Amino acid sequence: MSEQCIGVFDSGVGGLSVLKHIRQTLPYEHLCYVADSLHAPYGNQTPEFIIERANNIAQFLIEQHAKAMVVACNTATAAAVAKLRSRYNLPIIGMEPAVKPAAAATKTGVVGVLATVGTLKSAQFAALLESYGQHIQVVTQACNGLVECVERGDLNTANTKALIKRYVAPLLEAKADTIVLGCTHYPFVRALIEAEAGKQVAIIDTGAAVAKQVQHRLQTHDLLRYSKEKGQETFWSNSASSKAPQLMQTLWGKPVNVQTLMV
Ligand code: DGL
Repeated sequence: MSEQCIGVFDSGVGGLSVLKHIRQTLPYEHLCYVADSLHAPYGNQTPEFIIERANNIAQFLIEQHAKAMVVACNTATAAAVAKLRSRYNLPIIGMEPAVKPAAAATKTGVVGVLATVGTLKSAQFAALLESYGQHIQVVTQACNGLVECVERGDLNTANTKALIKRYVAPLLEAKADTIVLGCTHYPFVRALIEAEAGKQVAIIDTGAAVAKQVQHRLQTHDLLRYSKEKGQETFWSNSASSKAPQLMQTLWGKPVNVQTLMV
C-alpha cells in the first residue's frame, strides 16, 4: 500500500500551489493530481454541484489506487470534505483559510481574507471565525474573476493587476496588516498581491501547513512510502483549452505529461 499515490485535486490548476509544498515535504511519494478545470471556478457553484464533482474525482483517484486524498481547494473542502470522509475510508486532508495563524500574527488586530464567495459563505468559514476571529477584526473579500485569471494563465496582465488592486484596497483601508490567501489559486499571483499590499503586510498561505498535515496523517496510518527513490507525479485535466498542458507546466515549473480526465 505504501507504494500507492497521494491523490490531490482542485477545481483547476490552483491546487498545484499545494502540490508543490507536498512534493517538497514528501520527496519520495507518488503524487496524482487532478485539475477539474472544465468546471472551474467552483466558487460560484452550489454546494450540491461541488459535492458531485468532488465525489466523481474522489472515485477516479481511488481507481488510481490513492492511499490518501488531499482536497487542495478551500471551496471544495467547505462544501464536500465531510461528505467525502463519510463515504471513503482513507485519510482525506482538506484545507481552510489560515485565520488561526493570522489571528496570532496580526499586530493591528485586523486580518484580511481573500477567498471565493463559496468559501466565505460556507458554514465552515463561519465556524472558523467563531473559533479564531473573536478577538480580532476579520475583513473578508470575495475575489470574483481571480481564479479565472489564473486558469487562463493571466498571471501578470493589466486586468489581473486591476482586480487585485480592487480586492486588496478595502483590506488596506481597514488597516489589515495580515492577509490570508484563502484560495489555492492565489499563491500564483502572490507577487502581485504583495506589491499591492506593501512590505508592511504579511501574506499567509496554507500550502506548507497542509503538506505537514499530509505527512503527519501518512505517518499515523503507516502509509509513508518505504522506498527512498524520487516519487513520480501524474497529472490529469479536463480543460477544454489546448493551452492547459503548457499552463500546468509553467505553474509546476517542470515538464509535465498531462492526461485527459474523462470524469
Ligand atoms: N482553488 C480553489 C479554492 O481554493 C478555487 C475555487 C474555485 O474554483 O472557485 O477555493
